[in-house]
Amino acid sequence: MEELNDLYVHLVRLALEKRQQDIVTLVKRNIKQFSDTQPKLVNGLKEELSNYESRSNIIRKASQSNPLPIDIDSKLELVKKEYITFENKPLWPKEISDQLSRVVKEREFEQKLIKEGLTPTRTILFVGAPGVGKTLAAKWISSVLDKPILTLDLAAVMSSYLGKTGNNIRAVLEYAKNNDCILLLDEFDAIAKKRGDDSELGELKRLVTVLLQEIDEWPETGLLIAATNHEELLDRAVWRRFERVIKFPIPSMEDISYTIKNLLENDSFEDKDTIVNILSLLFEGNSYANITKEINNARKDSIIQGIHIKKVLEEIINKLCLKIEKRDRINIALNFLNAGYSQRRTAEIFGLSRDTIRKYAKKV
Ligand SMILES: Nc1ncnc2c1ncn2[C@@H]1O[C@H](COP(=O)(O)OP(=O)(O)OP(=O)(O)O)[C@@H](O)[C@H]1O
Ligand SMILES: [Mg+2]
Repeated sequence: MEELNDLYVHLVRLALEKRQQDIVTLVKRNIKQFSDTQPKLVNGLKEELSNYESRSNIIRKASQSNPLPIDIDSKLELVKKEYITFENKPLWPKEISDQLSRVVKEREFEQKLIKEGLTPTRTILFVGAPGVGKTLAAKWISSVLDKPILTLDLAAVMSSYLGKTGNNIRAVLEYAKNNDCILLLDEFDAIAKKRGDDSELGELKRLVTVLLQEIDEWPETGLLIAATNHEELLDRAVWRRFERVIKFPIPSMEDISYTIKNLLENDSFEDKDTIVNILSLLFEGNSYANITKEINNARKDSIIQGIHIKKVLEEIINKLCLKIEKRDRINIALNFLNAGYSQRRTAEIFGLSRDTIRKYAKKV
C-alpha cells in the first residue's frame, strides 16, 4: 500500500510537470513490477498505455528531439511551433464559439467515438476577412487541447521554383503527421486556388493534388486547420475536402464594444460607457485586429505622452467621425451632450461648429 501511495504521488508530480515520456516509462516499469501481485492494476495500465500509444500513432520520444523541417537553401525553419496558453476564451459570435467548442469536445470523447467507428474532426477550414480571429481561434484550440501549434504560411513558402515548394510543403506535412500537434496552413488560398487555370503549371497541379490527398487522409490523432481570407479562390473540390468549414464574420457592434471594454478594463474614467459606445459605433465594419491596434495605440500614447486615456480616445472619435456624414455626426454628438458633455467639447470632438451643436441641442 505504502508503495502504491508513493507511486501515486510520483505520478501526480510527473503529470503536473507535463512529463509525458517519463510517465510512460514509469508505467512500463510498474507493469513489470506489479505483474504478479496486482493483475487488475496491470491490466488497466496496459490498456491505458496501448490507447495512448495508438492514439499518438507516433514515437513521442523522437518527436521531442525532432528538429523542425528547414528550407534546403536558406536553412531557415519552414514552420513556427508555438505552445500557447489562454487565460480566457476569446469572445466569438455564438455559432463560431459553439463550433470551436464542439471540435474540442469531440477530442474529449475521442476514444468513445473511435470505439463506435466515428472519428473526431480532423480537418477544418477557417474562412473570413483579415483580422477576424482565424489564427486566434486555431491558437485557442491548440491551447485547450494542450498541443503545440505548427504554422505554415503557404504564401511565404510558395517560391518560383515549385519543385522546391513541393518538397518544403511535403516535409512540413510529414513532420506534422508524425508529431503531436495542430497544423495551421495559413493563407491556404495561395496554393489551393482554382485548379485548371491556364497559368497553372503541371507541378502546381501535382502539389495541389498531393495536398488534397493529405487532407483526406489526415490522421485522426492530428488536427489540420487551413485558413483563408479569399474564399472565392477555393474551388468546391477543395471546400468539400474539409470536415468542417467555419466562417468568421466581421465583429458586430456588441462584439466591438465587448472587445474595447476588455482592452480598457484597467482604465476607469468619467463617461467611459458613452465613449465606448460611440467608439463601437464608429468602428463598425472594422476587424478585431484593427480595433485592437487602435485602442492599444491609444493606451500607449496615453502612457508615453502622459495624456489622459479619455482625451486620447476622444481624439480617436474625432478622427473616425470626420469620415462619416455630417448628419450622422450630429446625431452621435447629441448622445455626447445627453451624457453631460459641454457644447464646446462636443463641438470640438465631432468637428462641428458650436452654432450647429447649439441649434440641434435646442431641438432635443
Ligand atoms: N474574437 C476576438 N476577440 C478579441 N480580439 C480578437 C478576436 N479575434 C481577433 N482578435 C484580435 O485581432 C488580432 C488578429 O486576429 P487574427 O490574427 O486571429 O486574425 P486572422 O483572421 O487570422 O487574420 P488574417 O487573415 O490576417 O491572418 C488578434 O491578435 C486579436 O488581437
Ligand atoms: Mg491569421
